[in-house]
Amino acid sequence: MQALYYSRFGAADTLTLGALPMPEPAPGEVLVRVAAAGLNPIDVKTRAGKGFVAAQLGTAFRFVPGYDLAGEVASQHPDWPAGTAVVGMVNFPLRGGACAEYCAVEAGVLVAAPRRIPLADAAGLPLAGLTAWQGLFQHGALTSGQRLLVLAGAGGVGHLAVQLGRWAGAEVAATASKGNLALLGELGAHHCLDYGQPDVLEAAGPWDLILDLMGGDVGLQALDCLAPEGLLLTVPTLTAATLEAAGAARQRRVRGYTVQPDAAQLEQLVALVDRGDVTLHISQRFPLAQGAEAHRLVEGGHVQGKVILEMPAAAV
Ligand SMILES: NC(=O)c1ccc[n+]([C@@H]2O[C@H](COP(=O)([O-])OP(=O)(O)OC[C@H]3O[C@@H](n4cnc5c(N)ncnc54)[C@H](OP(=O)(O)O)[C@@H]3O)[C@@H](O)[C@H]2O)c1
Repeated sequence: MQALYYSRFGAADTLTLGALPMPEPAPGEVLVRVAAAGLNPIDVKTRAGKGFVAAQLGTAFRFVPGYDLAGEVASQHPDWPAGTAVVGMVNFPLRGGACAEYCAVEAGVLVAAPRRIPLADAAGLPLAGLTAWQGLFQHGALTSGQRLLVLAGAGGVGHLAVQLGRWAGAEVAATASKGNLALLGELGAHHCLDYGQPDVLEAAGPWDLILDLMGGDVGLQALDCLAPEGLLLTVPTLTAATLEAAGAARQRRVRGYTVQPDAAQLEQLVALVDRGDVTLHISQRFPLAQGAEAHRLVEGGHVQGKVILEMPAAAV
């Protein structure tokens, strides 16, 4: 089967498209014929040798990236008959494998794919959707009427967080560059904030819950706009410890978290997509062979919504 992989850390051109052996599902696993893989910043950071996954891969490896897939079941399993359209956040964090024509995955992380959108597009939903869901509802305990600020509302996690916040009845603000403010409005944000303008967060705050998808200095600046009992959830793991320390020093509640696969939560996200309450914005679709180009795009830090990698047509 064709797969995208790398055997050393480096720039996007370390990615190789080549033939690898078919994965063999272990007991309790399902073989999925992949229609598309979703691309996430963690794939790009790990390929560059950064972050907690890269630290655990060691020096001798051949890693097929990808934690998000949509496809069809290609093996027999009591819960998942062959041919069922599925979506899932799979093999997180050390195994990956979604950027390939076939992927063996634990049956328990799969969910029936949404019917309202093309199967390949659904690959953009799992990791970003679960990050938004877990931030807002599991860690943030967001309730109707609260004031939510999403830093980076136009990106993969952000565009879903804005819609989920709105769906939950919160008053939602989000930041983006000037060119993306219209998108924030379409997603349902009550306040569309241009991060290029000075003091824009202070003017519109304070916030009960801040979902910080930028980390670093952007997260630090937002700390001052948190309501006294508010919570800032910082999502990029590379700077989470710094922000938690800054929060402790300023007597502000700051926490980082790492997304986890959760089929029940993903099922709820799929239901919201099928009802039209949440729209998954796929801004770019690349063939698997252009994986390096897709990585460069995500690495640039300004993608709208999600980017997916589609498998060769013969595979689906
Ligand atoms: N801890 C975890 O488990 C976990 C899970 C998921 C993601 N993450 C991390 O969370 C971060 C966000 O993930 P993602 O998938 O949403 O990334 P993404 O899709 O690559 O985010 C891109 C967005 O960032 C926006 N942006 C860039 N600079 C900005 C700024 N200064 N202020 C506000 N927005 C800005 C861009 O908007 P403009 O083009 O308008 O600038 C763009 O839409 C990444 O670092 C990722 O690694 C962590």
